[in-house]
Amino acid sequence: MTDPIIKTEGLFRTFQMGANKLHALAGIDLVIERNSFCFVMGPSGSGKSTLLHLIGGLDRPSAGRLLVTGTDIAQMDENQLSHYRQKTIGFVFQAFNLVPGLSALENIAFPMRFNGTPVRKRNEIATSLLEKVELEKWAHHRPHELSGGQQQRVALARALVNDPAIILADEPTGNLDSKSGDRIMELLSEFQQSGKTILVVTHDFRLTKYATQVIHLLDGRVVNGEIAAEKQGVVQSTLEEQV
Ligand SMILES: Nc1ncnc2c1ncn2[C@@H]1O[C@H](COP(=O)(O)OP(=O)(O)OP(=O)(O)O)[C@@H](O)[C@H]1O
Ligand SMILES: [Mg+2]
Repeated sequence: MTDPIIKTEGLFRTFQMGANKLHALAGIDLVIERNSFCFVMGPSGSGKSTLLHLIGGLDRPSAGRLLVTGTDIAQMDENQLSHYRQKTIGFVFQAFNLVPGLSALENIAFPMRFNGTPVRKRNEIATSLLEKVELEKWAHHRPHELSGGQQQRVALARALVNDPAIILADEPTGNLDSKSGDRIMELLSEFQQSGKTILVVTHDFRLTKYATQVIHLLDGRVVNGEIAAEKQGVVQSTLEEQV
């Protein structure tokens, strides 16, 4: 039985560039099953971040439908969308985006300031999330005292704070060495196994072993795996030669 958590129908995001229109997304039809670990791949400029921004409610479609758990988020007003972002989505970014003056624990607890969670409860939740990413020893350290991989693990823990159904990660391993990158993917995979749906943008074919679904984008359109592999074959073999 299928249980789609995200469904797009004829989804467009169009930017006006002077006299021309640029379709960052040019009519996308997608189904993402609940509890999948979905990779979004494709060359630079193919629309990967645009797709994540729309699903995350950070940006709005120009046309089409974007159903998340059956509701078209394109039809939501600003208040509903802001509530949706807080409740349903956890974000992870390439640049970690931690608050420099706060400790690892405080960074994780930070989003709970805005949802009425009492201070004691915030610390309890943040501590258990810190354990989940195996950083309990680093609770009182600030981001600059942590490695890139550790900072991203704090960011992963923070993304779980409001217990979102969907985690969106845009090149979360882009600034990391391959070992730290693998650790991030393993953790995301654990989150998936605990019931979350994960969408991750990556250029790293090595990591697709973690995926349950792969979406290939090209010029704002979904292309099937074979075409994508053919188009990206050049890039892949170039990379292999460099190794
Ligand atoms: N705010 C914007 N204004 C105008 N054009 C935009 C805007 N955001 C994205 N675009 C264009 O839309 C297209 C898709 O951009 P997007 O950022 O989604 O690509 P991407 O697949 O994430 O690329 P990368 O791998 O480099 O991050 C690009 O041509 C980009 O220039
Ligand atoms: Mg991008």
